Amino acid sequence: MQIEERIQAAMLTHFDEVISAGTPPSLRAAMQHALFPGGARIRPQLYMAVAMVSGEDLPSLTDAGAVALELMHCASLVHDDMPCFDDAQLRRGKTTVHVEFSEPLALLTGDALIVMAYQVLLNQTTKKRLSHSHALRVLEMMNVLSQGVGVPHGIVAGQAWECESKVDLWKYQRAKTGSLFTAATCMGAVAAGANPAPWLELGESLGDAYQIADDIRDVIGHVELIGKPVGQDIEHGRPSAAQVLGLEGANAEFKRLIDNAAKSVPDCAGRDILRAMIFKESERLVPQREYQHYLEVSKQKQQQSELAA
Ligand code: IPE
Ligand code: IPE
Ligand code: MG
Ligand code: MG
Repeated sequence: MQIEERIQAAMLTHFDEVISAGTPPSLRAAMQHALFPGGARIRPQLYMAVAMVSGEDLPSLTDAGAVALELMHCASLVHDDMPCFDDAQLRRGKTTVHVEFSEPLALLTGDALIVMAYQVLLNQTTKKRLSHSHALRVLEMMNVLSQGVGVPHGIVAGQAWECESKVDLWKYQRAKTGSLFTAATCMGAVAAGANPAPWLELGESLGDAYQIADDIRDVIGHVELIGKPVGQDIEHGRPSAAQVLGLEGANAEFKRLIDNAAKSVPDCAGRDILRAMIFKESERLVPQREYQHYLEVSKQKQQQSELAA
């Protein structure tokens, strides 16, 4: 089975397992809306690739980790889109949860998905009768995941930097986005019983690159292409890499981080496959032809307006 299919199957199984008939119907529908169909599922893919090249020996635990990561990510998106944060109407080409269902249900959906992430992992210890050392892996996965989501350096902290008057852009981006990528690579190693330390740099570089790409896409993207509103960073006065480095500087930094991510893949049997995955993902995030085209058109427009002035 391809990684994408494996993740989809695990998401559906765990959703049905946790959300039983007793769940309030609107909350169930809102949670379903937030999870299916998914986006790129990039974090669980990265996690699963690391687990596989690290010699995964408990496939159902690997699956549970992938689901937990994606649940946390989807929860962060539901909350991020709410009126008290980015007030976005569109996500993955669909109306956002608070628009489709209501603000209270969006808040509860995010909460329920966060708790469900831990339920999915904990269920592994109760249902699968794991050995003591395997159960310790689950605890370590929960620990790594918590660091990626909570304080002081996880998603919640990243979102909270938006409430401060002085913000270090790189610290902000590392927390709001990079932290879950670091959790993905490190959790992948832990799920396979391997040492997570050699996988830290890959998570950090990819996570940093990912948020820079998101900032670039916010400037050059189209709503039809990325399935969410563009121009949001300027509209909300959010610090962004495109604004601090300029578009060309941000693209150069993006490419540097992608190269660094590829170089940082530890020596292992699947090294070349992982590197190929990284370069493919980089092209999906910021297609270089589209980027160059945008740059040329905006330079021409600037020249024309200078001539007209
Ligand atoms: C969007 O993440 C939020 C960021 C951290 C940039 P993704 O671009 O991974 O969103 P989906 O899951 O594919 O929709
Ligand atoms: C992404 O924040 C990180 C999250 C914690 C959701 P953004 O606000 O930059 O992401 P998008 O552009 O809405 O996906
Ligand atoms: Mg935001
Ligand atoms: Mg947002």
